Amino acid sequence: MIGPLSTDLTQQPTLHSARLILRPLCSEDAAAVAALAGDRRVASQLADVPSPFPLDVAARWVEARLDRFVRGGGPTFAITERVRGAMLLGTVSLRSVPRDRRAELGYWLGHEFWGAGLASEAVSRVLRWAFVESNLHRVYAQVIATNQRSQRVLEKAGMEREGTRRGHLKKGRRFVDVDQYGILRDEWMKSPLAGAKAPHR
Ligand SMILES: CC(C)(COP(=O)(O)OP(=O)(O)OC[C@H]1O[C@@H](n2cnc3c(N)ncnc32)[C@H](O)[C@@H]1OP(=O)(O)O)[C@@H](O)C(=O)NCCC(=O)NCCS
Repeated sequence: MIGPLSTDLTQQPTLHSARLILRPLCSEDAAAVAALAGDRRVASQLADVPSPFPLDVAARWVEARLDRFVRGGGPTFAITERVRGAMLLGTVSLRSVPRDRRAELGYWLGHEFWGAGLASEAVSRVLRWAFVESNLHRVYAQVIATNQRSQRVLEKAGMEREGTRRGHLKKGRRFVDVDQYGILRDEWMKSPLAGAKAPHR
């Protein structure tokens, strides 16, 4: 079993689902991250990504994610499609707090890849990894209150809306409300998602 306390970079697994391969993020992904996440339609929904996203800033973002994993703070996966090969379409991550066996889920996809169910598939696979293979107790996510598309992704993954933090995030000159979503391991284990067909290896 691979635990969230792992500090060995070589231990980050590659996860498979019907259409996707979620592989460890790497330095070579910086250019794709800059181009795809720096798109205003993507960056506007994220807390830590500017638009535009200069390459050197994106490279530091990637390095910070790799460093976070090495320090036991949880993995960031590059979302890739089996048919397209290693090309990064987006990322999905778990920022973990090992002491509490909880992790914050984060994700984004390049705009051209929206609307095909890929985010839902990636999130579902990562939740399975979190609860089955990593024995986490809780996974939660924070989503800008107007981001209905992302809320739908979380609901389809079995996550419940737990409340709203008013004016929690500063985006440009505005303070925006942020909805909290979460799911506990027991809830996920009892859900139809847990009984779904095992992912393709
Ligand atoms: C959020 C994001 C990852 C979703 O990607 P995606 O691949 O389009 O998501 P999916 O196709 O798996 O699911 C989207 C769901 O939202 C629904 N949806 C689309 N537009 C919607 C809208 N305006 N209102 C409500 N639901 C909407 C879709 O119909 C779909 O639900 P369904 O399967 O029941 O039909 C993508 O839009 C993105 O990267 N956004 C910017 C970054 C971001 O918001 N990240 C999350 C931060 S919490």
